[in-house]
Amino acid sequence: MREIVALCKRRGLIFPGSEIYGGMANTWDYGPYGVLLKNNVKRAWWEDMVMKRADVVGLDSSILMNPKVWEASGHLKEFTDPMVDCKACKKRFKGDDITGDKCPACGGELTEAKQFNLMFKTNVGPVDGENIAYLRPETAQGIFVNFKNVLDSTRVKMPFGIAQIGKAFRNEITPGNFTFRTLEFEQFEMEYFVYPDKADEAFSEWTQARLGWYIGLGINPSKIKLQPHPESDLAHYAKAVTDVEYEFPFGWSELEGVANRTDYDLKQHEKFSGETLRYTDDEGNKVEPYVIEPSGGVDRATLAFLVDSYAVDKAGDEERVVLRLHPRLAPIKVAILPLVKKDPVAPKAKEIYESLKGKWFVEYDESGTIGKRYRRQDEIGTPFCVTVDFENLETDSVTVRLRDDMKQEVVAISELANWLSSRLG
Ligand code: GAP
Repeated sequence: MREIVALCKRRGLIFPGSEIYGGMANTWDYGPYGVLLKNNVKRAWWEDMVMKRADVVGLDSSILMNPKVWEASGHLKEFTDPMVDCKACKKRFKGDDITGDKCPACGGELTEAKQFNLMFKTNVGPVDGENIAYLRPETAQGIFVNFKNVLDSTRVKMPFGIAQIGKAFRNEITPGNFTFRTLEFEQFEMEYFVYPDKADEAFSEWTQARLGWYIGLGINPSKIKLQPHPESDLAHYAKAVTDVEYEFPFGWSELEGVANRTDYDLKQHEKFSGETLRYTDDEGNKVEPYVIEPSGGVDRATLAFLVDSYAVDKAGDEERVVLRLHPRLAPIKVAILPLVKKDPVAPKAKEIYESLKGKWFVEYDESGTIGKRYRRQDEIGTPFCVTVDFENLETDSVTVRLRDDMKQEVVAISELANWLSSRLG
């Protein structure tokens, strides 16, 4: 992990938050390449979960919601972790992580466990203590409260899903492991509404589909698995949960949870809001749908793609660091590297750069040896480097160097955009 954190800082992927002020623990900022990578993760999810599916629509609901939402959802009462402090060394622990009755760090005496609500509280308006609101701890509730709006404004038919990507906030007792567990993070969540007798089938379909999504984007299949939760460890709203887990350097950990939330949320919102939240089928029957929820963390997925693609191998005699990211995820898709800065090579290379840069994120780099320039692109996972030299220009071609096996192919300039398009999508 140390190598990956260092690479992220050095190459503008992820920076420590508020660094010039000494930082703020467990906050991270995505740099120029990091924001492209994270956006690509979100785009891949949005394309695969919404754009390519006729049965899923999108949503972007607000972070601040009427506090009654959190009463109805159970978060005000149930979204707590037991918190334990060491009286000697003052370290703080999640009660669930403690086995004996002594501090795991220094052996000191521990306080009684206190239930601690993970929601961040804030005030709306100028008067402290009035008009309390919460930063949402999950995006899901924004979907449930808009269930009726979506039914009334679209032509969705059950089974159907409502998907959204957005920020969520949790005052975690034990954040850490880089971007794995933070206070502020992004989720991609989908609530898939089904007839109750179809819920088990949809649950197993979605667990398989979500596992397949990560593998399809390049995650090594031996490093990812499905992990069903024991019944004793289910969230207050769930009948069944299976996690998608990835083997990070710090151990197997949850990337995403797929839950059968039953009709819990819609029923609760009916009770608290007084609105009827039912689906009317073709025969006019009012149905209380069950909900299958694949809920993942954008930052965790991004971290898994980074960790999984990271490799150190050899380029000739030199060691190179390379991110073997799936082309859909790579921050920069193509780098244009003229072998000399002189006419007519550099102007031609610039012309090629200009012709491609509206289609993909493309970089132009003419500084340093070609070896150094390849290394820079390898480190951020650029799948294709296009070099231009005098010889190429005689045949109106370029040489494309492939990131993973470093093989080279000569491609006609007139064909380059098509050649790239068929490999990048
Ligand atoms: N709506 C259900 C829900 O929120 P969750 O398992 O608590 O379920 C879903 O969260 C996903 O959100 C997790 O699988 C994880 O990827 C991400 N996540 C949760 N807490 C996080 C945190 N503190 N930092 C980063 N990601 C987090």
